[in-house]
Amino acid sequence: MIYLDNNATTPPDPLVREAMLPYLGEKFGNPSSPHAFGRAAKAAVERARGQVGFLLGAPPDAVVFTGGGTESINTAVRGALAAQPGKRHIVTTAIEHSATKVLCEQLAREGCEVTWLAVDQAGQPDQTDYLKSLRPDTAIVTVVWANNETGVLLPIEAMARAADERRVVFHADAVQAVGKIPVDLRKVPVHLLSAAAHKFHGPKGTGVLFVRPGLGLPPLILGGDQERGRRSGTENVAGIVGMGAAAELAGAALETGMPRVAAMRDAFEAGVRERFAGVRFHGDQGPRLPNTSNFALPGLPSRDLLAVLDHLGVACSIGSACSSGAPDASHVLRAMGVLEEEAKSSLRFSFSRMNTPADAGGALSALSEAIRRMASGAPGD
Ligand SMILES: Cc1ncc(COP(=O)(O)O)c(C=O)c1O
Repeated sequence: MIYLDNNATTPPDPLVREAMLPYLGEKFGNPSSPHAFGRAAKAAVERARGQVGFLLGAPPDAVVFTGGGTESINTAVRGALAAQPGKRHIVTTAIEHSATKVLCEQLAREGCEVTWLAVDQAGQPDQTDYLKSLRPDTAIVTVVWANNETGVLLPIEAMARAADERRVVFHADAVQAVGKIPVDLRKVPVHLLSAAAHKFHGPKGTGVLFVRPGLGLPPLILGGDQERGRRSGTENVAGIVGMGAAAELAGAALETGMPRVAAMRDAFEAGVRERFAGVRFHGDQGPRLPNTSNFALPGLPSRDLLAVLDHLGVACSIGSACSSGAPDASHVLRAMGVLEEEAKSSLRFSFSRMNTPADAGGALSALSEAIRRMASGAPGD
């Protein structure tokens, strides 16, 4: 089996699993308890806060643990609106993950005005349009740092700086960026940032919301006042410990692991280009993640190709995992001007540091075989 769907989720690093195990066993205390069991759990949570903060270039106090990327995004956007009741305008882009897209659509139904910034063929929003969109009644700008389908990187530093200068709250959805590219919040003036552990070899259902010190952000989830009132509910101690370990490992791998991942992805793309005439790559004209490859093989429906590849032992994706059950063409590719038929023939292969060059070679062979089978009308043989 070859796993090339790392933007959907990554396999947990064995060291992450090892770090978590005691907290699923004998170290089961509730971090809010004042006794020794509780103190041990609290110490583990605080150690993880430091590890995650270090990866982000953020003080530990700015790190709020959540139940994943989606929760962090909802907390950021609804929190910014709650903190500024007089402001009801939101700026976002046409290529957001559904966590942001569906939330903003709902907020529009609740009376907010949403500006959806269009993107060009490279997946980039026009910066003049962006600056024009910022208004005195803008409550928050929320922008994906690295798009999950194409890997396209948005100019978050410049966009955050422009918002900051106009005193507009800026949130970056960095769920796909953290662990894959350097994210240093000492240099990038975002006010809020979301990440999720399972995208960098940590556990699922564990996320983080960075809240810049001094920013008052009302909580989304009320209750027992955990996370200093910013996210109530007994902490997922094992998950948080796993995220801390994953953050440390991801930070260490940025310099050596990620160039290796980029080399694998580039070799894979060179092979695709060589073997399949007419292939069309998406999002490769500008800056993008080192691990992601998105392309169309026109005339071959990606849904069928995915199924044959799965049969051959190769896991990849059509666009985002969250929308894989839906028949529509990807809204991200459509926003980049890709025609519907081409969007429906698009596949995403996403690598991680746990892949090997042999995986890239194996995927190429499987792709050739899948296309041969589809052409001969025998996908299941
Ligand atoms: C860019 C982006 N944002 C948000 C999310 C949502 O994260 P989670 O599934 O951890 O809630 C994802 C997950 O695919 C993502 O890729």
